[in-house]
Amino acid sequence: MMGSMAQALLVKIGGSLREAGELLDELAGYPGPLILVHGGGPRIGDWLARMGFETRFHRGLRVTPPEQMELVEMVLTTLGKELAAGLSRRGRPAVALSGRDALMLQARVMDKALGRVGEVERVNVAPLQGVLQAGLTPLVAPIGLDEVGPLNINADTAAGAVAGALGLPAVFLTDVVGVLRDPKDPSSRFPVLSRGEAQALIDQGIIAGGMIPKVEAALNALAQGAPWAAVAQGGPGVLEGLLGGALGTRLVG
Ligand SMILES: Nc1ncnc2c1ncn2[C@@H]1O[C@H](COP(=O)(O)OP(=O)(O)O)[C@@H](O)[C@H]1O
Ligand SMILES: [Mg+2]
Repeated sequence: MMGSMAQALLVKIGGSLREAGELLDELAGYPGPLILVHGGGPRIGDWLARMGFETRFHRGLRVTPPEQMELVEMVLTTLGKELAAGLSRRGRPAVALSGRDALMLQARVMDKALGRVGEVERVNVAPLQGVLQAGLTPLVAPIGLDEVGPLNINADTAAGAVAGALGLPAVFLTDVVGVLRDPKDPSSRFPVLSRGEAQALIDQGIIAGGMIPKVEAALNALAQGAPWAAVAQGGPGVLEGLLGGALGTRLVG
């Protein structure tokens, strides 16, 4: 599977993957082009708490009052720089961008009740292609912008939109081995889920919390032109395992 003609992939790095070292080894060693989108949920949560802010989630999305937006952006941006340095040190030179750079993620407020939470309106892919052509791996922090300013876009939502716009497979790496029937039992993984099955699991509350935007983003990527989309646990061997169909959960149209 993995050879000199290795498939380009859009990989979303979950913010829940706090121990990123092994995952960075895996990504650095991938033989094909990568475009990376990263989250930062737990670290954003830590910093908001430290600054005395309350955090609320709605269907897996962090409610973002305007006064929290600057801190959210600071944390995501710093995390991107750390990941870029980690990849670069491992021999894969990477640059950390955010969706505000070159107006890459043009967005709109998703729902006024959620504050500065964005949904992607348009992806400008030219800067990503330019970075790839320069021999660099782009990392994108999921910050979008509207005419008012920055918007906090769920990293899965951003990753799905970028994968769709580039027509690349969308790989969502997280802290669980895939979509599970019982979130506490890794052996209850669904190898494949159709759109209808995924929707039913959301309605039944089996797919909950942060898995909701992930599955929705995967389905969205497929609808917009991604050839395939999957959720899997970040770690050694995950990309080869996914390409061979042995690991994770594949979402199908
Ligand atoms: N059916 C499910 N299968 C697997 N994980 C689920 C499911 N329902 C909810 N989850 C939760 O979704 C989490 C992954 O989403 P999230 O915490 O947002 O991680 P990430 O940082 O990768 O986006 C899992 O750790 C798990 O707690
Ligand atoms: Mg998440």
